Amino acid sequence: MQTSVPRHDHPPLSPLDRLLVEVDACLRTLTGVHAQAPRPNPADAPVVPERVTGRSSDPDPIDGAAGPDPALESEPVRRHVAGLMRVNHAGEVAAQALYRGQALTARSSDFGARLDAARQEEIDHLVWCGRRLEELGSHPSRFGLLWYGGAFALGALAGLAGDRVSLGFLAETERQVSEHLDGHLSRLPEGDVRSRRILTQMRLEEDAHRAFAEAHGGMPLPGPVRGAMRAAAGVMKWLAYRV
Ligand SMILES: [Fe+2]
Ligand SMILES: [Fe+2]
Repeated sequence: MQTSVPRHDHPPLSPLDRLLVEVDACLRTLTGVHAQAPRPNPADAPVVPERVTGRSSDPDPIDGAAGPDPALESEPVRRHVAGLMRVNHAGEVAAQALYRGQALTARSSDFGARLDAARQEEIDHLVWCGRRLEELGSHPSRFGLLWYGGAFALGALAGLAGDRVSLGFLAETERQVSEHLDGHLSRLPEGDVRSRRILTQMRLEEDAHRAFAEAHGGMPLPGPVRGAMRAAAGVMKWLAYRV
């Protein structure tokens, strides 16, 4: 090993190496096996939900999480919450693929490195949603490979269109995700503190990703493109809620 070489100054990967890296990343995302330990699960520690939701009526995070899990008290509620969290897990699968696709075709290496930093936060989101699904006795969407493959292709296409378009695509994606999370926070049972904490923390970070993309020159996307993105996300949400 050459210790004098700067940490990121490694030889370029061959096309086969890159393919294997991407296959490895896809498998890790779909199986939930990640190289790095995630940050602590916000379901186990309070965050600041009022900053995002403005919900002053939320139960106290510590006391609310210590009692019985209200999402498990009835089968219809459990299935509903599991459906919502499966949608969010599917979204995080897609986020991994989008970021990787964008980083693969990014023009500037600095942009690619920043995408990687944000993607680490998305890995935590993926893990937290997956753990909540386990608590609920449920499973990730059966269409994970479809969400991953489609999002990877979209991300790579956005990257090929140039960094400013790619940043605009990222900003619009995160904006729509934040709106979506607001919707889910309003659809979760009032007492489901564990799911609320996870989505609230995600909401904070998705908004930071949007702000990053806008601050670095992300171009506003045309209305039809924004509409197509909403439509594609709608299909994913409809299917992932069910299976
Ligand atoms: Fe996320
Ligand atoms: Fe994000």
